[in-house]
Amino acid sequence: MAILVKNIKKLVQVEETPAIWRAGKEMQTLHTIENAYLLTEGEMIFDFGKMCDFTPEKLSKIKEKIDEIDATGRMVFPSFCDSHTHIVYAGSREIEYIDKIKGLNYQEIAKRGGGILNSAERMAQASEEELYEAANARLQEMATYGTGAVEIKSGYGLTTETELKMLRVIKELQKNSPMIIRSNFLGAHAVPLAYKDKQQEYVDLIINEMIPMVAAEELADFIDVFCDKGFFTVEETERILMQGIKYGMRPKIHANELDFSGGIQIGVKYNALSVDHLEYTGDAEISYLLNSETMPTFLPGAAFFLGMIYGPVRKMIDNGLPIALASDYNPGSSPSGNMQLILSMGCIKYKMLPEEALNATTINSAYAMGISDIAGSIAKGKIANFYITKPIPSIEYMPYAFGSNKVEQVVLKGRKR
Ligand code: NIG
Ligand code: FE
Repeated sequence: MAILVKNIKKLVQVEETPAIWRAGKEMQTLHTIENAYLLTEGEMIFDFGKMCDFTPEKLSKIKEKIDEIDATGRMVFPSFCDSHTHIVYAGSREIEYIDKIKGLNYQEIAKRGGGILNSAERMAQASEEELYEAANARLQEMATYGTGAVEIKSGYGLTTETELKMLRVIKELQKNSPMIIRSNFLGAHAVPLAYKDKQQEYVDLIINEMIPMVAAEELADFIDVFCDKGFFTVEETERILMQGIKYGMRPKIHANELDFSGGIQIGVKYNALSVDHLEYTGDAEISYLLNSETMPTFLPGAAFFLGMIYGPVRKMIDNGLPIALASDYNPGSSPSGNMQLILSMGCIKYKMLPEEALNATTINSAYAMGISDIAGSIAKGKIANFYITKPIPSIEYMPYAFGSNKVEQVVLKGRKR
């Protein structure tokens, strides 16, 4: 089935020569076409242009049946790419949410049913089918808010068997979902109870057993470590990343959420695709990032939900860096995968301009999950992942009208969903 979208009020983020990311001042660049058409064939974007240049001959090369959509008054945007999520999980953690409101500390919260280790306990009990169903429902909801690509991490298993179970669920989702999905092995998310006071042994288990087995089943595109105060050290991170790289997984890590952890530097040293969280980013970290191919990624949903400080995004863009934004959808620190909300938070909390926040949630987050050649903008030959809005007055209305869903129709891999 091919799709012809006609009379588009504004076709947003079109690219004749696709960029791999947008950095610094370029983050304000957002090419648009007014009164436009967009034509797909199979899973791909086939053509686009001004409505006044549209002639029936444009359709003569299309061999499939053509479904026409009249988008009068509506805009078309490329789908969001959500480059950092933990959406395979069992149960939810509202108890912990209430405990935090009441002011309980980390230990008390853990005792009463919160924290990564509690998610790990429930993960161990859950079947692959249950996990699949729950994660698939989350993906479907995310799609209704305009997301078309998702990176998903393991990291609630923390044993070889359960980490593999999580990754197999991600692989199944990848097979069946209309979304573009990439998978990330995060065995080093926390030290499990069984290895309390034996962190080194747990790191050895990740290196000697988990990574080779994950690689043998081709279960992960990326390798992740929570490199932060109280979790994994720079030295441990380095050992894990080296082994991951040896087995073909590109680093993409959690860094500098809780302290100046050295995570950004170690990520850059091992050519990480992205370093994520980054609440604690200073001048030294900025200069490391400036000489790298690593995408600095912020997760405003987690900073908001946990009431943390917000990283220096404005300063980083003004210094010439690219920035990506993602949801961090997980049961503990960001129980939402609504990328429209992330877009608004980018503008409100980080003082990004709407164009910058749009680039951060599309082409730059596509880069951060290794797919900027096939997603993240409207370009010929890219996968036809886009959404048609409800009637809206302007591009800026997207982040401005926070909390309401501006998406009317979703197209993923060239099909209406
Ligand atoms: O990305 N920062 C580390 N990990 C998750 C939180 C996971 C949880 O609390 O379950 C995050 O925010
Ligand atoms: Fe995370």
